[in-house]
Amino acid sequence: MNEFFEDVWRGLSASPKYLQSKYFYDEAGDAIFKEIMDCPEYYLTNCELDVFTNQSDQLVNAILKHLTEFDIIELGPGDCTKSVFLLEALVNRNVDFTYYPIDISTNIISQLNEKLPLQVPGLKIHGLNGDYLGMLDELKEISTRNKVVLFLGSSIGNRPLEETDEFYKVLVSHLLPGDLVLTGFDLKKDAATILAAYNDKEGITRRFNLNLLQRINDTLDADFDLKQFEHKPEYSEQTGACRSYLASRKPQRVRIGEVGWIHFMEGEQIFMEISQKYTVQQTDDIAQATGFAVVHHFYDSKEWFLDALWQCR
Ligand SMILES: C[S@@+](CC[C@H](N)C(=O)[O-])C[C@H]1O[C@@H](n2cnc3c(N)ncnc32)[C@H](O)[C@@H]1O
Repeated sequence: MNEFFEDVWRGLSASPKYLQSKYFYDEAGDAIFKEIMDCPEYYLTNCELDVFTNQSDQLVNAILKHLTEFDIIELGPGDCTKSVFLLEALVNRNVDFTYYPIDISTNIISQLNEKLPLQVPGLKIHGLNGDYLGMLDELKEISTRNKVVLFLGSSIGNRPLEETDEFYKVLVSHLLPGDLVLTGFDLKKDAATILAAYNDKEGITRRFNLNLLQRINDTLDADFDLKQFEHKPEYSEQTGACRSYLASRKPQRVRIGEVGWIHFMEGEQIFMEISQKYTVQQTDDIAQATGFAVVHHFYDSKEWFLDALWQCR
């Protein structure tokens, strides 16, 4: 049995039911995520673009102040909408580095390997297809230089707060003292603004979530009836956690290949994804607890989003 099947079966057999958000990104999921990034309610992209377009020189200066010889690693780059501005700025300053994007989507990595050298002439790129942390082991064999790790888009928020320290501790174990990490953190703000980003009027985020059920149908020969599941995001101002669910519209059972049936009660939910929102203090505390010193805070003009540059101690 493959890993996708095992993860899906385990998640849907659990109580409460869940699916892992890393499986959103098949070819269709990648394309729908691009639509999300372009939709007016999804402020995260514009905020981080504001940082990368207006402060790319400051970003380069901050990196060069701490490291002279390094490679750039990006965890889950998607289509590099934001990081491309930093890569261009580094190439324009004749900095010698190789860019290693690591993404679980085969489609993303083959597109980047093909298109990015045309978009940024002179860029050296070596895409790695797989899970971030697993591929960091492989990278040890390939690059011995210091590292600048990019983890943008507040993808860190797709982990619950209580698992965040553990993630950075594992990351640190793959890095050297002096290495830099730039993380995009979506900051706490007005609840209606946050909820709208995960429940846009056009229904793109709804399609994005339902696409994972479609992927299960297509890949595991399942028979989810997508019309019978409702997209339900929730945001808690207190915890800063925005959670997306798919709720069953009626009592129903879903066949997963030849293996068996999953039963749903009316209203029963599948937990799909968390998008954690942070205070600046929380991000500083994470750095402190996991072996980093905070080097610089880069904010967008509305101060809705923070790109935090940390250095391994
Ligand atoms: C929400 S998108 C963010 C893209 C980009 N960082 C941005 O800020 O626009 C998440 C990206 O991470 C990739 N991804 C998700 N989980 C992953 C994992 N566990 N390992 C490697 N890549 C992953 C997805 O394929 C997708 O390209």
